[in-house]
Amino acid sequence: MRVLTGIQSSGDLHIGNYFGSIKQMIDSQDNSEVFAFIANYHAMTSVSDGERLASLTMQAAIDFLALGMDPQKSTFWVQSDVKEVLELYWALSAFTPMGLLERGHSYKDKTAKGLASQHNLFSYPVLMAADILLFNSEVIPVGKDQIQHVEMARDIATKFNNQHGDIFVIPEHRVDDNVATVPGIDGQKMSKSYGNTINIFGEEKKQLKTVKKIVTEAVPLEEPKEFENCNVYNIARLFLNPQELTELQQRYRRGGEGHGHFKLYLHDVIWEYFRPYREKREYFESHQDEVREILAFGAAKARKVALPIIEKVREATGITY
Ligand code: ADP
Ligand code: TRP
Repeated sequence: MRVLTGIQSSGDLHIGNYFGSIKQMIDSQDNSEVFAFIANYHAMTSVSDGERLASLTMQAAIDFLALGMDPQKSTFWVQSDVKEVLELYWALSAFTPMGLLERGHSYKDKTAKGLASQHNLFSYPVLMAADILLFNSEVIPVGKDQIQHVEMARDIATKFNNQHGDIFVIPEHRVDDNVATVPGIDGQKMSKSYGNTINIFGEEKKQLKTVKKIVTEAVPLEEPKEFENCNVYNIARLFLNPQELTELQQRYRRGGEGHGHFKLYLHDVIWEYFRPYREKREYFESHQDEVREILAFGAAKARKVALPIIEKVREATGITY
């Protein structure tokens, strides 16, 4: 089964991204055919500084390799290295009614939050459809906010197939209900747009400072504390095994320790969890030529799948003579 994921290179990765999507993607490499790319064209909708986007793209590649993306088992590339996606985007535009895009939640939400209402933000779902359809993707694991985009890809592909024959595989979205929403330091959904994130690869001092800012209830030190609704506990439990979790619950119930103690513990747990990945990250950070080679290898693998499909599209649409 071919599973495709795109990750925008629009900011630093946080533990919400990790437990909400990256971990599943990395773990699924053993039992599915993973196609994963860094969506740097999509990131242009929110990052306009070119130098920054280039750097974010390299950093995202380094992060994913460090976290276990295996370029041999999987196909891992940067979106802009397979330019056929832009060609397909245009071909699909001829099968995309304006009304379909006008109903897009993401465009409405993002412009409501203050992003400029540019055409690239509006037509974003068509490029995403091209990402999906160019590689005969079968399954697209997404968060709930992206379901509509996969539906749009299905609609566009079906319209195209109705006119030109079965060129595209019709993709399906997959939402993993076991993946809970990771809370941020203020208890809302962790998101870079809310400024409430704990980053995966931040500096140690900065991480500690962030963890200390986690919002908790004021309860006297000696009193027992509730763990169920505690933001510190709800983040910590993502990292702990059942035994460690029981021990932490006992510490809450026992009293005699304040939230400050639990925060220090959480900081250590996060720092240790990512230690081996951080070491791998340092390696790639200082071997960026190797990273570029890996990405070029990935782009070549991806293009091999894309070429016969784009060729059929050119034939069907008359972009040949
Ligand atoms: P952000 O909200 O920080 O901008 P993105 O929208 O770029 O994050 O999300 C990238 C991926 O990470 C998506 O698959 C999304 O579902 C997942 N994700 C982001 N934040 C969380 C969270 N707090 N809990 C669970 N998954 C998340
Ligand atoms: N829109 C996705 C997001 O914001 C990123 C993305 C771009 C994507 N192209 C894709 C995801 C294709 C899945 C498939 O998270």
